[in-house]
Amino acid sequence: MKFLVTAGPTREFFDPVRFLSNRSSGRMGYAVAAAAAARGHEVVLISGPVALAPPPAVRVVNVVSALDMLAAVEDEIEKCDALVMCAAVADWRPKVFSESKLKKRDMAARIELVPNPDILSALRPRKGNRIFAGFAAETGNLLEEAQGKLLRKGLDIIVANDVTQPGAGFETDTNIVTILSTDAEPEHLPLMGKDAVAVRIIERIERKAPAAP
Ligand code: CTP
Repeated sequence: MKFLVTAGPTREFFDPVRFLSNRSSGRMGYAVAAAAAARGHEVVLISGPVALAPPPAVRVVNVVSALDMLAAVEDEIEKCDALVMCAAVADWRPKVFSESKLKKRDMAARIELVPNPDILSALRPRKGNRIFAGFAAETGNLLEEAQGKLLRKGLDIIVANDVTQPGAGFETDTNIVTILSTDAEPEHLPLMGKDAVAVRIIERIERKAPAAP
C-alpha cells in the first residue's frame, strides 16, 4: 500500500521570529511512518518542524504552517491508499504576518487570529476508497470526543489518547490509546511504546484496506 502520514506540530508565524504552536514532538507520527515502511509499504511523511531523524525508507516532505501542510497533503493524496493524520495542526493562525520583526513597543497586547482549514475535512471529497485515520488528543470525555471526531471528519479510524495520563501523549516514548473505527468495538491498548502502538495502527489499516484488484 501507499501511505501518506503527517506528523509534528505546525508553526503559525506572526513575524520572522515569533510563532504559535503546540507541544507535539512528532514521535507518534514518525513511529507510524517507520512502522509502515518496515512492513513493506511505500511511505510519504509530511512533517512539521521536529527534532527527529527521518525514518529509514520514508520520503519526508518538510512543512511549517497548517496551510503548507494542507498544500502538501493535497499534492500527495491522489497517489496514496491511506492517510494517517498524526500531526497536531494549529487550529488558528495570526491574521497578519509582519515581514520585519515587531518591536516590543509597537506590539499590541492582543494577536488577532483566523481559523486554519481542517485538513481532514478539506480532503474528505477526495477520499474515495482511501482509508482515512486521525488522532484525537483529549484531556476529558475521551471516547465521546473521539467518536464525535470519527463521524464529523468522515474517518475510518481514530486513535484516541488522554494526554493527561502519565506515559501518554506529548513528548513521551510511550502512549496509551484506544483505537475506534466505524466497524468494530473500541480496542483499548495498554501503556505501550509508540513504536508498538504504530504497528497496531498499521495492522488495523491493512485489515481495512480494500483487497488489491
Ligand atoms: N486535524 C486536521 N486539521 C486541523 C486540525 C486537526 O486535519 N486543522 C486533524 C488532526 O491531525 C487529527 C484530527 O484532525 O488527526 C483531530 O485533531 P484534534 O486537534 O484533536 O481535533 P480538532 O478538530 O482540532 O478539535 P478540537 O480542537 O475541538 O478538539
